[in-house]
Amino acid sequence: MPAESLDQVVNLAKRRGFIFPGSEIYGGLANSWDYGPLGVELKNNIKQEWWKWFVHRRTDMVGLDPAIIMNPKVWEASGHIEHFSDPLVECKNCHTRHRASELLFSGAVSEVGTFYVSPRMKKNLGEAFVTDSLGTREIKPNDFSNIDCPSCNKKGQFTDVKQFNLMFKTFLGSAEDSASVVYLRAELAQAMFVDFPQVIETVRPRLPFGIAAQGRVFRNEITPGNFIFRTREFDLMEFEYFVRESEWERWFDYWREQMFVWLTHVGVSRDRLHAQEIPEGERAHYSKRTIDIEYDYPFGRKELYGLAYRTDFDLKNHIEKSGHDLRYTDPDTKEKILPHVIEPTFGLDRTVLVALLEAYHEEDVRGETRTVLKLPHWMAPYKVAVLPLSKHDDLVPLARKIYEDLTQAIVCDYDETQSIGRRYRRQDEIGTPYCITIDFDSPTDNAVTIRDRDSMMQERVLIADVRDVLSQKFS
Ligand code: GAP
Repeated sequence: MPAESLDQVVNLAKRRGFIFPGSEIYGGLANSWDYGPLGVELKNNIKQEWWKWFVHRRTDMVGLDPAIIMNPKVWEASGHIEHFSDPLVECKNCHTRHRASELLFSGAVSEVGTFYVSPRMKKNLGEAFVTDSLGTREIKPNDFSNIDCPSCNKKGQFTDVKQFNLMFKTFLGSAEDSASVVYLRAELAQAMFVDFPQVIETVRPRLPFGIAAQGRVFRNEITPGNFIFRTREFDLMEFEYFVRESEWERWFDYWREQMFVWLTHVGVSRDRLHAQEIPEGERAHYSKRTIDIEYDYPFGRKELYGLAYRTDFDLKNHIEKSGHDLRYTDPDTKEKILPHVIEPTFGLDRTVLVALLEAYHEEDVRGETRTVLKLPHWMAPYKVAVLPLSKHDDLVPLARKIYEDLTQAIVCDYDETQSIGRRYRRQDEIGTPYCITIDFDSPTDNAVTIRDRDSMMQERVLIADVRDVLSQKFS
């Protein structure tokens, strides 16, 4: 069984240097997390594998690494300045702000996702919709009259519902006036649309093709929480896949399937994954069809990834607002086409979270509990740990030589402290697939044992063969 509670993973992540609270010596900063030495390896492995999987191993995808701060006109054209908001209310007594939907449903429903302002909501800011497992209903100001503020417990002292834009604002240069306001990007996608003409001019891809990017995005979430599930800065991996309008359904189905194939590769059980069709009215302003891939987290079923049919919404708006022709010219017919877009989006931090939850196992081994992270080999922070059986003079130089040699090829750990049993347990907990033990026979028989993390079986291997044996195991 994988992790049953979020705490199991949070504790292990902190104890073993995967992820710890940010700015801790200053009392921390709510919901900010730093990836430690093991976490950064794990996260980078996922990023690199994703890039290999969706960019390098395909003939129809190219990459982009765009700037975080873009011309603010981009966000006007994309609709984010107008639509990318959450309805919230403020307590008149203590001035804390709360997601309107969460106040209404607190206790009854555990989660209400970010949603977008519908045209109707724009007309009347006092009205907003909330949708969850209980259905869709309107939020009205007097809905709050019987609700206690979660911060100060005062009853019914809330302002009317206001739309709160989730984009982080800052100023470019030294002047702090409205002319220098810029935004930290809230999604990567816009760069793929804005840079579309440069990409087609420089690499001349043929439809259908995709432009992929990975990177940090920023959202001033009102209710972050559940460890790295919802934070205010997080990493996305996403691509815009440009197709002819007539083919969008085929590609939508294709990418839905591919997202599940990727999740199997990440080690996620299909039983805990669900494709949730998002009805009209709840979809993002740019989407004509959206499927959320949801996961059964220990804190409930919630979004893991999203797949959207963005139509030609973004390219069309950027053509209108920038005055540039962003159409694609068919190289054979010279026909000018405005492609439509399928967008698979993968939250990297949520990928890390589900990978840890799925890999976490507690097993009974001869009456003792063994905690082991059964991570896929490609994802494990260390591939191998080199462990001399003792700190004896005969063993340490040989062990260090093996370690230094292996380090040139794969990411290794070295540990000579404590008993061998405790060291195995530590490596199991951080998901190291193999431990190489140098024992008292090693200097004479020139062999070591290789221990498998999952089966705990050990095999004796000549030192000269260790690299070959490992490369077979990792192939
Ligand atoms: N370009 C489309 C887009 O950004 P989204 O559904 O707003 O779509 C994409 O977000 C993914 O980002 C989600 O499926 C989820 O994996 C992740 N995500 C969204 N908000 C997040 C947050 N506050 N913290 C961590 N990950 C988040």
